[in-house]
Amino acid sequence: MAACGGVSRSRRFLGLLPFLIWAVVGVSSGASASRQRSEVWRHLKRLNKRAVKSIQSPDGDIIDCVHVSHQPAFDHPFLKNHTIQMMPAFHPEGLYDQNKVRTNSGQKKNSAITQMWHLKGRCPKNTIPIRRTKRKDILRASAVKKYGRKKHGSIPKPISAGLDMFSENGHQHAIGYVEGGRYYGAKATMNVWNPRIQQLNEFSLSQLWVLRGAFDVDLNSIEAGWQVSPDLYGDNNTRLFTYWTSDAYQATGCYNLLCSGFIQVNNRIAMGASISPISSYSGSQFDITILVWKDPKEGNWWMQFGDAYVGYWPSFLFSFLGDSAYMIQWGGEVVNSEPDGQHTSTEMGSGHFPQEGFSKASYFRNIHIVDESNRLGAPEGLQPFTEQSNCYNVQIGDGGDWGNYFYYGGPGRNENCP
Ligand SMILES: *[C@@H]1O[C@H](CO)[C@@H](O)[C@H](O)[C@H]1NC(C)=O
Ligand SMILES: *[C@@H]1O[C@H](CO)[C@@H](O)[C@H](O)[C@H]1NC(C)=O
Repeated sequence: MAACGGVSRSRRFLGLLPFLIWAVVGVSSGASASRQRSEVWRHLKRLNKRAVKSIQSPDGDIIDCVHVSHQPAFDHPFLKNHTIQMMPAFHPEGLYDQNKVRTNSGQKKNSAITQMWHLKGRCPKNTIPIRRTKRKDILRASAVKKYGRKKHGSIPKPISAGLDMFSENGHQHAIGYVEGGRYYGAKATMNVWNPRIQQLNEFSLSQLWVLRGAFDVDLNSIEAGWQVSPDLYGDNNTRLFTYWTSDAYQATGCYNLLCSGFIQVNNRIAMGASISPISSYSGSQFDITILVWKDPKEGNWWMQFGDAYVGYWPSFLFSFLGDSAYMIQWGGEVVNSEPDGQHTSTEMGSGHFPQEGFSKASYFRNIHIVDESNRLGAPEGLQPFTEQSNCYNVQIGDGGDWGNYFYYGGPGRNENCP
């Protein structure tokens, strides 16, 4: 009898087991969901500052006009007493050819490049436009802390190219670069495209990199350009962006104003906002000009977009870039996540190879570095680099009113890039 009762008790317990498992798992996942909800809420509160005015952009973005002194940068403990600089103390000489567009016929006219939200309003003086982060933006990230940050190891490594031909994390590049000097900035004009992205977790961008440090350890990097990143923005629009890190993408830095660091002074340009219009294949070409340079007086790294001083990275954010850069890169980067076990068909630039040339291939033109005497100079020894030239390639040239330039990009997967 006793044994029998034991059996039935344990049977009863076994019968209960699925319910117990369900209850325990259910309760704990409920607790972690609410923990995540409050973590997301706190993060949104940090990122989205009180707005003086909000503008609903036709592309679905909300642009908040936030008082300059309330921007995310000033959450940084080192910036508590910072006196904001509305203008750089120094601007490198030699600027020319600002913001021009080349049409098919080779004629030039003033660029109409703008940001989509401009159609619906402007931010008042003493405010800056900030793209509002939505709950669903953060929920797309693998963790709240990872939202707005690049993955470790995403940098093109031309130095070690001979040793490892394929970069980590499937990141692929087609770039021009210079190294070995003391560079105090970089400039270029690049045409803007809307490359197709095969998968949500991939992206395609075109930018310049201002670099110093060891690639995997303590790399300092300042980056600016345009990107298509469904993961970061929730759509396939082409957007203006910046990035910075002072420890090789590990603990510091972020895109745009998604952490404390970059101090914005401009009320017209919103980081992360869509750019319009976009170049079309065999049609009109639209390009943007970006200049990043170090103000020798204050030590801050400034960014100019077209003719606008956008803002600056205070020098204390960096270790090596507290002095000068050692390498400058210009070009494209995509993520090849090898969906279906094949090379991704995510496009770089226009999605066409460099040899197709003007109005078909993507380009960087009027490429400059800022030299030791703080002047805009030619990028002496500009070298091409790509991991797989059959997928994405780069072709350097110089001469004429384009100065130093290159065409770059490609379609990704094709018969020579399986
Ligand atoms: C800011 O200024 C206050 C008062 O002058 C001073 O006590 C504090 O240490 C300063 N903080 C920083 C980060 O410089
Ligand atoms: C982005 O593009 C991909 C394919 O190129 C498409 O599958 C996806 O639906 C697009 N996403 C949006 C939000 O339009």
